[in-house]
Amino acid sequence: MRVKKAIIPAAGLGTRFLPATKSMPKEMLPIIDTPVIQYVVEEAIDSGIKDIIIITGRGKRAIEDYFDDSPELEMYLTKKNDTELLKLVRDVSSLVDIHYIRQKEPKGLGDAVLRAEKHIGDEPFAVLLGDDIIVNDKPCTAQLIENFEKYKKSIIAVEEVSYEKLSSYGIIKGKPIDDSIYVLEDIIEKPTPVAAFSNIGAVGRYVFTPEIFDCIRSAGTGFESEIQLTDGIRLLNKSQNIYACKFKGTRFDTGDRLGYIKAIVNFALKNENLKENIIEYLNEILKMEKEKGKKL
Ligand code: G1P
Repeated sequence: MRVKKAIIPAAGLGTRFLPATKSMPKEMLPIIDTPVIQYVVEEAIDSGIKDIIIITGRGKRAIEDYFDDSPELEMYLTKKNDTELLKLVRDVSSLVDIHYIRQKEPKGLGDAVLRAEKHIGDEPFAVLLGDDIIVNDKPCTAQLIENFEKYKKSIIAVEEVSYEKLSSYGIIKGKPIDDSIYVLEDIIEKPTPVAAFSNIGAVGRYVFTPEIFDCIRSAGTGFESEIQLTDGIRLLNKSQNIYACKFKGTRFDTGDRLGYIKAIVNFALKNENLKENIIEYLNEILKMEKEKGKKL
């Protein structure tokens, strides 16, 4: 069965970006001029997804407005004959069929995914976390879907994470079956470095068989008294194989302040209109910092 639906959980409180996220969704933070969530939605579309369910929460209206039509703005741009901007604005709202479901309380990622159960029904689906931007010619989700079609079982994207970051991820234990695929043996949510099975962490991309819903429900609350997706995966793994895929691509964790800044610098360096000025500026401040270092 083809993977046509995707869930994008975007109900998190965004505490790492306070105070900005007090009144704006963290998913709307821009990488230069494009909100993070647009990259995630585009990845889903480029991976063949036709139907997207965004799980929102209180204070997330801006996401719905962003993907909606914007008649006043369109009228203004039409009057000004600004066809380029008009196309940009219209393209955003015509990207794909997007549905919104509200998670009433932030009860964890597993709970957010469960909210979409009725909409997904009995078919495989993808999950893309709103914090991660992954850049690659073949999108990460498309790589997962390709492997899902081969193995017909749930598959999660993984990459090596540094020792200091082990306790920020779901960490897997897996048996490699080729260069990029592991059979999952176990997974644990945000372990201490000592308790971690490996240095391989789950990043925010998954494809699941629909049995994951029952497993999330049965697993109940876990780490930090929240309903964890990782616990659902762990339970599902007891009744069916799950695979982990070392995806190709560069990931930016835009939910982390440093990751966010790195994403902006990288995207600026890829932008022909900005590249030269940014390089010049970076060289300038590096030189200044070095000078300061000398004086110390
Ligand atoms: C979530 C998951 C975690 C996963 C991570 C990837 O954590 O619970 O298993 O490794 O996303 O970004 P969060 O970053 O939402 O705390």
